[in-house]
Amino acid sequence: MNQPVIVVEGLRKVYGDVVAVAGLDFEVEAGTILGLLGPNGAGKTTTIEILTTLRRADAGRATIAGFDVGRQPELVRRVIGLAGQAAAVDDRLTARENLDLFARLYKLPAPERRARVDELIERFDLGGFADRLVATYSGGQRRRLDVVAALIARPPAIFLDEPTTGLDPRSRLELWREIRAMADEGAAVVLTTQYLEEADRLADDIVIIDRGEVVARGAADELKKDLGRDVLVVHVSDPADLPRAAELAGDGADVATDAGHRMLTVQLGDGPPEALAVLRRLSDAGIPVEDFQLRRPTLDDVFLTHTEVRR
Ligand SMILES: Nc1ncnc2c1ncn2[C@@H]1O[C@H](COP(=O)(O)OP(=O)(O)OP(=O)(O)O)[C@@H](O)[C@H]1O
Ligand SMILES: [Mg+2]
Repeated sequence: MNQPVIVVEGLRKVYGDVVAVAGLDFEVEAGTILGLLGPNGAGKTTTIEILTTLRRADAGRATIAGFDVGRQPELVRRVIGLAGQAAAVDDRLTARENLDLFARLYKLPAPERRARVDELIERFDLGGFADRLVATYSGGQRRRLDVVAALIARPPAIFLDEPTTGLDPRSRLELWREIRAMADEGAAVVLTTQYLEEADRLADDIVIIDRGEVVARGAADELKKDLGRDVLVVHVSDPADLPRAAELAGDGADVATDAGHRMLTVQLGDGPPEALAVLRRLSDAGIPVEDFQLRRPTLDDVFLTHTEVRR
């Protein structure tokens, strides 16, 4: 087994009366990607900020490549790359100048620096705008630059906080390929995302947190298998019928509604026979159904099952 590069033990952070991180434990081995998932406010960014020395934990400990994030922050900064939710690049410089600056910070020697910057501009397709001021970039162009800046020094630990938010589908696919490549070259990667398909495609291991606590962990396939149950998806004609439909469909924990999509999802204990029974109850109650579908669990189902609804 590979050595873990990132080791997190009992990590905790409290802001006033908000427990942002409530005692997290996880490890990330070299060459693997950990998907850190959770609803808004779950504590993902706080965790990443602690691990990248931007914030101090209140309790617990974490090491990156053997360095302690609380006690050896300067050493930790040399072995990590970060693309955070708040951009680190300088608006008043071009992409090329920003990347050169990052390469200098990481003390890459001059000839290697230029070659590395050119390579990344080419690989991440930044060529079209690399010599323009960052202030003029679109959201997606800026996001791509953020990620490239995190990778410049080939750090053994890479932290990407929602790296593909706002990217077009092609840029997203290209970024996925490059993130995978970084892991294949040996990096330990922590990735947060709201796109569960992204975690499904990229992450070797998944940790789902809610209110700062781990609520589920495992490989995507294991998590789906553990859920084990088929899902019935019903679209009703009138969203006003949804609360009644949810009541008829089963007990609260296994039923979710989405008014915007006029959709009811039911985790079935018993597959097709139960699906038929639910549809019959809706029909008997005179609730018009537009269409329905029976499907295997997805990572979305895993997420919705393990995290709480908060409105
Ligand atoms: N500086 C701060 N002061 C007070 N509370 C904070 C601070 N930063 C974060 N929080 C709170 O800590 C909790 C965790 O926030 P965090 O940003 O880590 O969540 P997240 O999982 O990254 O969410 P998102 O998906 O929205 O990015 C939230 O309740 C948030 O309001
Ligand atoms: Mg966040």
